[in-house]
Amino acid sequence: MTSWFAPGRINLIGEHTDYNDGFVLPFALGVGCAATVADADSEWTVRSAQEPEPVVVRRSGLSDAEDVPEWTRYVLGALWLLTDRGVDVPPLEITVDSDVPTGAGLSSSAALVCSVVRAVDDHLGLGLDDDEVFALTRDVENDAVGAPTGGMDQLISLRGEAGHVLLCDMRSHDTRAVPLDLAGHGLSVLVADTKAPHRHSDGEYGARRRGCEEAARVLGVPALRDVGGPDLSSALGRLDSEELRRYVRHVVTEDERVLAVTRLLDEGRLPDIGQALTASHASMRDDFRITVPEVDTAVDALLSAGALGARMTGGGFGGCVIGLLPEDDVDAGGDAVRRAFADAGFGEPSLFTATAEAGAR
Ligand code: ADP
Ligand code: GAL
Repeated sequence: MTSWFAPGRINLIGEHTDYNDGFVLPFALGVGCAATVADADSEWTVRSAQEPEPVVVRRSGLSDAEDVPEWTRYVLGALWLLTDRGVDVPPLEITVDSDVPTGAGLSSSAALVCSVVRAVDDHLGLGLDDDEVFALTRDVENDAVGAPTGGMDQLISLRGEAGHVLLCDMRSHDTRAVPLDLAGHGLSVLVADTKAPHRHSDGEYGARRRGCEEAARVLGVPALRDVGGPDLSSALGRLDSEELRRYVRHVVTEDERVLAVTRLLDEGRLPDIGQALTASHASMRDDFRITVPEVDTAVDALLSAGALGARMTGGGFGGCVIGLLPEDDVDAGGDAVRRAFADAGFGEPSLFTATAEAGAR
């Protein structure tokens, strides 16, 4: 029997840059998913402490896989893809148990996939290296689940380091831990889970991704990462579509903000990153157009309560907002969000502080 734990994540900054081969700066959370893999007599059995029924399926590859409940695809996907790659995966029983809220934009799905892939690799003695493990986790989400996501969530869940954000180059997948010394500066990251329903999130995410790929094609670059800041205005001049211009402006300026925040953190200037966080939110709201009233309200409330910066984190259309606040202002920040939600007639948000913890273990 083999067990692994993999965490959920918060992205400090760098949204929708990952599938544009750009830069992201996430950190791993203390909450996560524990996966246990054990030998079984026949077939594959998957259980989740968060689901009522176990699911038993015939061993197969992805193309001849049985029709199964959506949640099990995050687990079985690893077994299907390994089978397709020539691994004779024996009968197994896989059990998962997670304390990451699902669908809140904290990557419960990446925690699930990463814990399972690490545990299966370990249990079967496959000896996958770090790059192969990452590629498999991303392929499970893209190919077995069918979510066209960009890999950030899996990379941070696998490689996070306590007390650090991880600068990820999403073209090379090189990563570097950068100190996030919250306590040393008397600061906290306050998370507001808006619980806003993810309206059209799947379709809209895919539409943004296709728009970015179309813009890169028109501009004749492999990915929007290759439009540097100095080339932005000439690139914008070559796009007829107002929508694509807004997408390009978001992605190119967001990459610049990730690198600017990284420089500030390297210089020990954590309190100075606030402006870039808030600018990132404005770019997601006005240019990329992936925010909803609940997240905009939470950001405004945090800023009015003394946050140095605040922004939505994750794919958008709901989910969580983060605020960087002096420790002493955390309670006031939470109260401000609750009051603003009550005034607007939104549901009750959930509020908690987050610190950077270790990745899969
Ligand atoms: P996020 O990753 O931001 O939480 P997603 O919609 O991408 O949101 O992934 C959530 C999905 O992941 C759930 O709907 C479910 O299918 C699956 N999932 C995550 N954790 C578990 C779990 N512990 N048990 C079963 N399914 C889970
Ligand atoms: C997530 C997705 C990531 C990333 C993020 C936006 O939902 O899984 O790959 O694209 O949205 O930055």
